[in-house]
Amino acid sequence: MYKIVEKKQLNHQVFLMTIEAPFIAKKVQPGQFIILRIDEFGERIPLTVEDFDCENGTITIVFQAVGFTTQKLASLEIGSFIADCVGPLGCPTEFGSPKKAIVIGGGVGCAIAYPQAKALFNMGVKTDIIAGFRNKDIVILEEEMRKVSHNCYITTDDGSFGEKGFVTDVLKRLIENDDYDLVIAIGPIPMMKFVAKTTEPYGIKTIVSLNPIMIDGTGMCGGCRVNVGGEIKFACVDGPDFDGHKVDFDELSRRNGFYREEEHSCRLGGKNNG
Ligand SMILES: Cc1cc2nc3c(=O)[nH]c(=O)nc-3n(C[C@H](O)[C@H](O)[C@H](O)COP(=O)(O)OP(=O)(O)OC[C@H]3O[C@@H](n4cnc5c(N)ncnc54)[C@H](O)[C@@H]3O)c2cc1C
Ligand code: FES
Repeated sequence: MYKIVEKKQLNHQVFLMTIEAPFIAKKVQPGQFIILRIDEFGERIPLTVEDFDCENGTITIVFQAVGFTTQKLASLEIGSFIADCVGPLGCPTEFGSPKKAIVIGGGVGCAIAYPQAKALFNMGVKTDIIAGFRNKDIVILEEEMRKVSHNCYITTDDGSFGEKGFVTDVLKRLIENDDYDLVIAIGPIPMMKFVAKTTEPYGIKTIVSLNPIMIDGTGMCGGCRVNVGGEIKFACVDGPDFDGHKVDFDELSRRNGFYREEEHSCRLGGKNNG
């Protein structure tokens, strides 16, 4: 059992939770994730480790309450327990040796991008962050992102906070004016697709973190199959990071929609197993 020791609501739908998980905290690296099950009847869901503290034996997750399981997780309070937490899963991010990097987060993707930015910043890399949100009410982790970047640009679709526009508007401006050698983008599939399209003509290495449907997280079920450069990869063991210039984002989008009807009916009715 894994005890919840901290809970914060970051916006109307996004929650931060710190969980006692000493073995995971000891081993986890940026880019890796866990699969948790709230109770013995629950489905398994993958969530990225946003932060970790080896000394206290804790890991922090940030999640958007979008459906049955994440809403149930959001209803748990400090002192409650989660039945299973498996991890760390997936490959740690391979940063290489960049000199100047741009880390891009879209919505709750900022929580997944944050550990990457923090790692690069601590490696001495010039790290700029671009964080995009629909509007000012859903901006999260602004202070944290500013602490681990040289410049942090915030965009909102409606201009209610930061710059009006999309992350790709700022990205284009930055890469036209400076020599960046790494871009990391994490967020909605269309955002990652257009970031990759923007950097491709400039030949800048672009890492994206993919979020296909995952079940076992160990490469056995094939649920997280993605097409990268014409090859089949399993995001849970080969990823979740991939070369953004090679990912078939349209196929990923189609596959993620397979269970939309079931997910919708669970939100209305309630599911109890996975
Ligand atoms: C490697 C990885 C890391 C992730 N990290 C985060 C994170 O840090 N924070 C966060 O908010 N979300 C993260 N997600 C997405 C998160 O797993 C889903 O939001 C969650 O599973 C939704 O479950 P639900 O029952 O609440 O919603 P549902 O209504 O069941 O689903 C809502 C949407 O979530 C996705 N989803 C549903 N079940 C799964 C599943 N088993 N595996 C993957 N995606 C699923 C689908 O796209 C679906 O349309 C991550 C996904 C992956 C693959
Ligand atoms: S989740 Fe089953 S193979 Fe990746």
